[in-house]
Amino acid sequence: MNIADDIKQKLDIVDVISQYIKLTKSGRNYKAACPFHSEKTASFFVFPEKQSWHCFGACGTGGDIFTFIMKKEGLDFGQVLRLMAEKAHVNLVYKTEQSSQEDHQKQDRLFKLNEVAAEYFHFLLLHDAEAKAARQYADKRGLSSKTVDNFQLGFALNKWEALSEYVAKSGYQIDEMLAVGLVVARETGGSYDRFRNRLIFPIKDIKGRVVGFGGRALDDSLPKYLNSPQTALFDKGSIIYGIDRAQGAIRQKDCVVITEGYMDTITAHQYGFENTVASMGTALTDKQISALRKLSRNIIVALDADEAGLEATTRSINTIDEQIPKDHWMPWSESKTYDELVKYEVQVVEIRDGKDPDEIIRNSPEKWAGLLRESQPIIDFTLKKEIDNINSDSSKDKSAVVSKFLPILSRIDDSIRRAHYVQKLARLLNLDERFVNDALFDLRSREKKYTTAKGSKVLKNYADLAASSRHIEEYCLALLLQYADLKDAGMKLSTNYFEHSENKDILIKWQDCPDANSIMANLDPVIHEYFAYLMSFNKQFPPSLSQNKEEREYALSDCINRLLERYVRNLEIKKKLILSEEKEKGDMEGQLAKLIEHGINESQQLHDIFKNRGSLFSRTKGV
Ligand code: GTP
Ligand code: MN
Repeated sequence: MNIADDIKQKLDIVDVISQYIKLTKSGRNYKAACPFHSEKTASFFVFPEKQSWHCFGACGTGGDIFTFIMKKEGLDFGQVLRLMAEKAHVNLVYKTEQSSQEDHQKQDRLFKLNEVAAEYFHFLLLHDAEAKAARQYADKRGLSSKTVDNFQLGFALNKWEALSEYVAKSGYQIDEMLAVGLVVARETGGSYDRFRNRLIFPIKDIKGRVVGFGGRALDDSLPKYLNSPQTALFDKGSIIYGIDRAQGAIRQKDCVVITEGYMDTITAHQYGFENTVASMGTALTDKQISALRKLSRNIIVALDADEAGLEATTRSINTIDEQIPKDHWMPWSESKTYDELVKYEVQVVEIRDGKDPDEIIRNSPEKWAGLLRESQPIIDFTLKKEIDNINSDSSKDKSAVVSKFLPILSRIDDSIRRAHYVQKLARLLNLDERFVNDALFDLRSREKKYTTAKGSKVLKNYADLAASSRHIEEYCLALLLQYADLKDAGMKLSTNYFEHSENKDILIKWQDCPDANSIMANLDPVIHEYFAYLMSFNKQFPPSLSQNKEEREYALSDCINRLLERYVRNLEIKKKLILSEEKEKGDMEGQLAKLIEHGINESQQLHDIFKNRGSLFSRTKGV
């Protein structure tokens, strides 16, 4: 809900609440008699830094700008959003249900257009007289006719308008062909076919829908491969070639092999390595990795060992290093250490002699199987590669390698493993192990100092927390909307634990009537699109959730536990703020005593959370 954030940025909670009640300053915060229940001592506080409010008195609730006005005016979130948007001069752009339905229809037509094109290309390759050279080429590359069929390989005629004319006959417009990148617009007007005289590889998403095409030249002409441009359907950063055909095998073998090229993947499949996909020559992106990790945690990166390939390998490794832990299906439960990465068994296959997987497999599938078996953990691979590249007599080179690897080793939490790699690094560099150990110790203590000295880190963490808390709320709602059997647990969930008003509003409506359609009907159109997003969230769920009730109950209770923890922590922070300020003023009477009483109560709650977390934790570890 970016609109809500925009509005919060532009309005100040103190200004807004002051329009309803008289706030008096109390240290950095403001207080008043609570407008939601009658009381003599002020227990309603506004926290400008957190842009939130809380009543420590009888109501014991709190929230942000939106929840305040919702409560005060008796409006729902959508209505308040409109009201505040006007005040804050924020434009409300949202899609009506009808227009998003139209968008869907348009998109369906584009997919269909791609499919028609893929079938056309495929037909030409199989049957057209002009595709003879292409058929010979496919033969020469060792592609069986079954493979050609499986991957729906095709051929684009050497003509400027063959495809355009063909799909036009099926009722598609030029602007649709442009939208999927099948034709290219001429500056002088008009357009021509993008793919001509090329072997065509339809590129499909995980559902098997054609999102774009790759076209290989049949000779040495350049570019060797021509791909669809970035379009509404073809997002280069997230497409994984072969995923539609590989997903079953990836799940079954619980392992995915990532190659660089179309041909590598196709040949791998032809020889039974069906858990293979291709990154299509670019560095792996976080989107690709997270999509694959939903299928299997065991990732083998197999890339060409020619110079470009090696470079790509390092690039890929960097990407994996940065990206992997971010997008787990429960992203907040992962720590982002390199050790984790090693534990996830990201392995590397090194392919030498300037060959690529395609050639190796065709020469000897056994050799390929052997290479896969010999794949090594990412850290061993990077270490070895660095050391291969240095002059072993140069102390400067050695020192460079040590400085490069110490931070990596420092991030390994497991001390035995860390010691293992210290040993290995020392041995490979022919250094005294103690020296490496001391250097590592120095680095770790410096890092520690750095993180504790850096006060701003706390703030940054708070921002992280806020971002992930939103994610947890979304996740929680998505679970409830998706699985009717979570109803009982969801009914018990306190709406106070939700911080983000849009989510709170939806939770309240769900608890009133746990049925997605009637919630939709009760929601202001401004948040329909957001609701639709929540409803589609289940695409990100791992398959085990829909198969296993225990799994989703666990997911929900993990969410709730984390929300509760956040809620209690925030409350504690707020109370400490108030306490310290009231103490300065020497006013320790009355309601403060009540606050302390509350405090004891909530610490007990925190204690319970940890206990609970402990049992959830042992469950994930299979203890
Ligand atoms: P073959 O030479 O047919 O065996 O191709 P390959 O699949 O082995 O490709 P290669 O290893 O040369 O490159 C890996 C991948 O990078 C290819 O599959 C393409 O996805 C991509 N690629 C290669 N060359 C080009 C190019 O000229 N342009 C673009 N856009 N992509 C390319
Ligand atoms: Mn190749």
